[in-house]
Amino acid sequence: MSTQESLKVINARLGKPKARIGFILGSGLGHLTEAVDGISINYDDLPGFPQAGVSGHAVKLVLGKLEGVDVAVLGGRAHFYEKGQADAMRVPLEVLAALGANQLFATNACGSFRSDIPPGELMLIADHINFSGRSPLIGEPTDSRFVNLVDAYDPATRTILMEVAAKEGITLKEGVYAWYSGPNFETPAEIRALKILGADAVGMSTVPEVILARFLGMKACGVSVVTNMAAGLGYEQISHEHTKAMAPLGATKLEKLIRGFLRRL
Ligand code: HPA
Repeated sequence: MSTQESLKVINARLGKPKARIGFILGSGLGHLTEAVDGISINYDDLPGFPQAGVSGHAVKLVLGKLEGVDVAVLGGRAHFYEKGQADAMRVPLEVLAALGANQLFATNACGSFRSDIPPGELMLIADHINFSGRSPLIGEPTDSRFVNLVDAYDPATRTILMEVAAKEGITLKEGVYAWYSGPNFETPAEIRALKILGADAVGMSTVPEVILARFLGMKACGVSVVTNMAAGLGYEQISHEHTKAMAPLGATKLEKLIRGFLRRL
């Protein structure tokens, strides 16, 4: 319902816009919305879109062109930890799919486990571990809920992103992202456990959105900006303030990567 209502609002303002690719921007990474030559609509005006949200997120949808490609950018996200809803981004993602986006590019801030991917660097998500035990598809009644998550982070897209990074002189390493429910940060023991389980980084988002994107038939990819070493692995005090302060360090590289990637589409 809300998806159709949101589409009505969008169509009334912009005619019938199309998008080729959709983006979700993580904490402190929202300024990419300003790089788009287009029109923005506040989430408040879009039924079913998350309201308010978390500081550090730009809560608007921007539709327009970036590097000549029709894009739809979700400037901010709702997280599972806000209201306990793993499907909080379902309507926005359904809207992206309805606008024609067959690809989701998710971004986030994360804590790294790897000294070779330190704060300020980017990590290309190769796969994920759902450490929350929750799925955005709980309650979905159709058999489509049994989503296959092999190659959820599209291998061909990852190859292109690695090539673009090399060309642009951006260090990009692949790793496994673990979704932790939040909103509290992890304990050092949890980080040790996640490391043993095979994760390279941890964060509080992206996984439910990628599951929803695959459910909706979209390809997915994700890039994390490392804002800190995870709990127990670094010297800095982990905090949301620190995340917001550090994200811009990686954001410049991320924008360069995204622009290079769009030029390849
Ligand atoms: N843990 C979880 N989420 C995060 C972190 C972290 O260390 N850093 C940025 N987002």
